[in-house]
Amino acid sequence: ALQRANNIHWQHTDVDKSTRALAKGQQPLCLWFTGLSGAGKSTIANLVERKLAAQGFHTYLLDGDNLRHGLNVDLGFTAESRVENVRRVAEVAHLMVDAGLVVLVCVISPFAGERDFARRRFAEGEFVEVFVDTPLADCEERDPKGLYAKARAGRISNFTGIDSPYERPAAPELHLNTEGQRAEQLAEQVLAYLQERLG
Ligand code: PPS
Repeated sequence: ALQRANNIHWQHTDVDKSTRALAKGQQPLCLWFTGLSGAGKSTIANLVERKLAAQGFHTYLLDGDNLRHGLNVDLGFTAESRVENVRRVAEVAHLMVDAGLVVLVCVISPFAGERDFARRRFAEGEFVEVFVDTPLADCEERDPKGLYAKARAGRISNFTGIDSPYERPAAPELHLNTEGQRAEQLAEQVLAYLQERLG
C-alpha cells in the first residue's frame, strides 16, 4: 500500500495567489456544483462558463466524469472511493484557484463531510457551493446515460439516490430549484449571484 511521507516541509514561493490574480485581473473563485447524477450540473456549469469566458474571465471546468478518465481512473463508487475522488478534485480546484482561475467543479459530491472539506480548503468567500436540486424522479426520467435504468435493474451498484446516499447541502450559497426551469435560466441565476459578488 502507498505510505505517507514524513519530513516534508512547505516551500514558500515569492509569486503568490494575489500576484497571479492581479496579473489576470480577476478574483479567483471556486464554483462547486453538487447534485444527483443527471441533475444538470454539467449543463448549467457549461453555460455559466461560456458566459464568463465571453466576459474575459480565465476559467476552467473540472468535471467528475472526465477526471475519472485520468486523475481518478483508479477510483470507483464505494463510499471510500468517493471520499478520495472528491478530496482529489478539491485539491486540484484549490491549486487552480491558487493559479488565479475561476474554477467550476461538477461532481456529485454526495457527502456533506467532503463538501465541507472542500470548502475549508479555500479562503473565506472563494468557495461557492451551488446545489443543483433536481428531484430523483426527474433525474431518473431524463436518465441521459441510461444509468438509472441499469441501477434499477441491479446492473450497477452503489448508485447515488438508489442504493447510495446523497446528503442534501444544508446551507449552500446558491440553491437552484430546477423544477420547471430551463438550464439557461438556472445559469442566469448563478451569473446574477456572481455579478453581485464580483461586481
Ligand atoms: S462522486 O460521487 O462525486 O464521486 O461522483 P462523480 O465523480 O461526480 O461521478 C459521477 C458520474 O459517474 C457516473 N456514474 C455514477 N454516478 C453515481 N453513482 C454510480 N454508481 C455511478 N456510476 C457511474 C455518472 O455518469 C455520474 O455523472 P453525472 O455527470 O453526475 O451524471
